[in-house]
Amino acid sequence: MSHPVIVNEKDGSQFEQMPEDTVLRAGLRAGIGLSYECNSGGCGACKFDLLHGEVETLWADAPGLGERDRRRGRHLACQCRALGSVTIKAATGREYVPPIHPQRRRAVFTGSSDITHDLREFRFTTDGAADFLPGQYAMLDLPGVESSRAYSLANTPNERGEWHFQIRRVRQGKGTGILFDSLSPGDEIGLDGPYGVAFLRANSPRDIVCVAGGSGLAPMLSITRGAVEAGLLENRRLHFFYGARTPQDVCGRSMLETLEGFGERIVYYPVVSEPGDMGWEGATGFVHSHLSTALPDTLTSFEFYFAGPPPMTQALQEMLMVDCGVPFEQIHFDRFF
Ligand SMILES: Cc1cc2nc3c(=O)[nH]c(=O)nc-3n(C[C@H](O)[C@H](O)[C@H](O)COP(=O)(O)OP(=O)(O)OC[C@H]3O[C@@H](n4cnc5c(N)ncnc54)[C@H](O)[C@@H]3O)c2cc1C
Ligand code: FES
Repeated sequence: MSHPVIVNEKDGSQFEQMPEDTVLRAGLRAGIGLSYECNSGGCGACKFDLLHGEVETLWADAPGLGERDRRRGRHLACQCRALGSVTIKAATGREYVPPIHPQRRRAVFTGSSDITHDLREFRFTTDGAADFLPGQYAMLDLPGVESSRAYSLANTPNERGEWHFQIRRVRQGKGTGILFDSLSPGDEIGLDGPYGVAFLRANSPRDIVCVAGGSGLAPMLSITRGAVEAGLLENRRLHFFYGARTPQDVCGRSMLETLEGFGERIVYYPVVSEPGDMGWEGATGFVHSHLSTALPDTLTSFEFYFAGPPPMTQALQEMLMVDCGVPFEQIHFDRFF
């Protein structure tokens, strides 16, 4: 059976779309650096113009596409499939070329454990190695949920095929409803990855700052664990900020404490935005506003990684780039749409 061929007029590349793939996943799987971020219809980074041929739209109301884009006939590469051969005009960049080609696998659910009242670690195994870079994410296909959901890895790559995710329960969420309430050990799901460009830059000589907001804990933990395993913290420090809404949401310390260098080269700073009357004696406010007072050097001297809700990532990005002049190349982040 022949598969639809997608030609990108922008860079002259050409690739096939396998069944089940979106235009974006087909391109990334073929090693093409199509511009993207969330793979979930939220960010708009994968917008493209359709020049010839027909596509099927998977999520017509995806927030990543504005009214103006829709009127101009633009599409989201992560939310559509080619219905035959097509020609598109889509932005590409070397930074989007996947360092590890994403692959579809079957994953067996092996167990879970609570981290807080609404955040839980879910563990899966696959045949073959768990091949990803610390900070990347995978797309999970859950039984009865029409579209895939993106979740960041919390562990580090390994030959045992172990994939750990830390997931916050979302009220009336379809994907998290299945994960928290229906999945039993031994159940199989689909796992496609790795994706994402906010991964650990092992060759950067700078001290590291990780900022996790809410469910953004997983990728920051993976980056910290990866930095320890790679020996990057032998002559460098890693500052780990965790922004929680209330004191009962604060987490991460118990996992960081098990790492070599905790308290010396790994420093943990929890910040709570709604302390209420629960006896919280630590830092309060929005996590980004604590960086400049807590860190020992000017912000331009660090490599920054952050993950969490879009308002947090936006505030951090603006503060670092606009107010503090941190070069964009030193900033790596994922917005959790
Ligand atoms: C890069 C990335 C990494 C993430 N990592 C984590 C993590 O480590 N931990 C964590 O808790 N959360 C993470 N998230 C958020 C996660 O992907 C889900 O959005 C969240 O768990 C809510 O899912 P839900 O199905 O329960 O909620 P729902 O409200 O049912 O769905 C929410 C999300 O599903 C997608 N969606 C909804 N409807 C449709 C549709 N019709 N067609 C296609 N897509 C649709 C959208 O992305 C939407 O934001 C991440 C998100 C991104 C983009
Ligand atoms: S990558 Fe398609 S909308 Fe974010």
